[in-house]
Amino acid sequence: MKKVITYGTYDLLHHGHIRLLERAKALGDYLVVGVTSDAFDRARGKINVRQSFMERVEALRATGIADEIIAEEYEGQKIDDIRGRGIDIFAIGSDWEGKFDYLKPYCEVVYLERTAGVSSTELRSARRHVVIGVVGQSSVTEKYIAECGYVDGATAKAPAPGQSFEELVGEVDALYIYSHPRDHYRQARYALEHGRHVLLELPMTLSEEDTAELFRVADERGLALMAGCKTAYATAYRRLVLLALGGLIGDVVSVDATCTSLRPVDYSDAASVELQWSSLADWGPIALLPAFQILGTEYSSKQIVSRLVGGYDEFTKVSLVYPSGCASAMAAKGVKSEGELVVSGTKGYIYVPAPWWKTDYFEARFENPQDNRRYFFQLDGEGIRYQILAFLRAIADERRGDASAGGVSRGICLALSRVMRDFIDRTDTVALSTK
Ligand code: CTP
Repeated sequence: MKKVITYGTYDLLHHGHIRLLERAKALGDYLVVGVTSDAFDRARGKINVRQSFMERVEALRATGIADEIIAEEYEGQKIDDIRGRGIDIFAIGSDWEGKFDYLKPYCEVVYLERTAGVSSTELRSARRHVVIGVVGQSSVTEKYIAECGYVDGATAKAPAPGQSFEELVGEVDALYIYSHPRDHYRQARYALEHGRHVLLELPMTLSEEDTAELFRVADERGLALMAGCKTAYATAYRRLVLLALGGLIGDVVSVDATCTSLRPVDYSDAASVELQWSSLADWGPIALLPAFQILGTEYSSKQIVSRLVGGYDEFTKVSLVYPSGCASAMAAKGVKSEGELVVSGTKGYIYVPAPWWKTDYFEARFENPQDNRRYFFQLDGEGIRYQILAFLRAIADERRGDASAGGVSRGICLALSRVMRDFIDRTDTVALSTK
């Protein structure tokens, strides 16, 4: 029996793929198809893939052409597969001419003519092109605009000089809002009421009721309303949350996150103080995210400790107590500390070195150092690129609600807004003396 193998991503399966698979199959008696895993595609920089691994495999299976479908997960796997499975022929499209000659010592290598005029890339961009208006000026919005350049199907549009927010809304399909948090509610509501999808930086609004109202308006109109928070979309961070939830370090008892960046404020200039995001609004959502994602949002008590200078919080620390765990989140722009994340459990702990909110690496540490494990993941564009992709998926997805919430659930968006409100109202809040 002659065994043939071929590989591909097979995103949005098209007739070019099918013709290639049929011809590959005709070269022998048994066809193995390697489908790239989501993680492998990301690791090799192919980030625009629209369908998940399971969706791509299902579409391929439905054609009935492949006798066996396997996942391609790592660099160098092809040699392993060919040797391990006794493959006679490796077949691939002519766009790869010469690139797989290194497999010739292991089997016959055949390049098949690629079908002209169709590709996943073209289908992805033809599907829907989303123009995203970017509101707010900071280094983050600049990075966001640059990162849109890496994503098929999205173009970022900053307001033209002198252009109002309302005029910008009129020219785009969706909005990324990174303005001052006190403007979020008004702007997001306006955008949703004008039929625009919204990616809203956390904290979504400064009260739970306002955030709930935005979700209501989005649902009523069938629009995507997603939380902006680059860390929530970074692969390493997502994996550590899953590992903690999966019991790697036993029962999680404490989640402690620190986020600081020293940004001195000119208190003599009231207008510039007014423009500042509070330390809690700026860093709080990221610092609280691990606690809310790992321990949940149903804490039994909370204390906020803040160093307030002229009404501005240079330092705010939120402590949460749960029935079986606790958490602390330090957010500061006038105090400096080590920006690490530690998740402590009954069997060990997860340690993420500073700056943990844009990490590609973390460790699981145990009593016996031989059990320690290190985890590395590719991080492209600090997570912003994945956040844009998630937003495009949320827009394309017919399902709304939490199904399209992306990296941060609605419950967490609401809980974060609640903490913001409590801080503004000074509920559960203690002010430190500044001498
Ligand atoms: N293929 C083909 N003819 C096309 C498109 C793809 O023969 N018009 C072949 C490729 O050469 C490869 C296989 O189908 O052997 C899987 O290719 P894949 O990279 O998944 O598809 P593309 O459409 O080329 O995807 P992209 O645009 O993302 O590169």
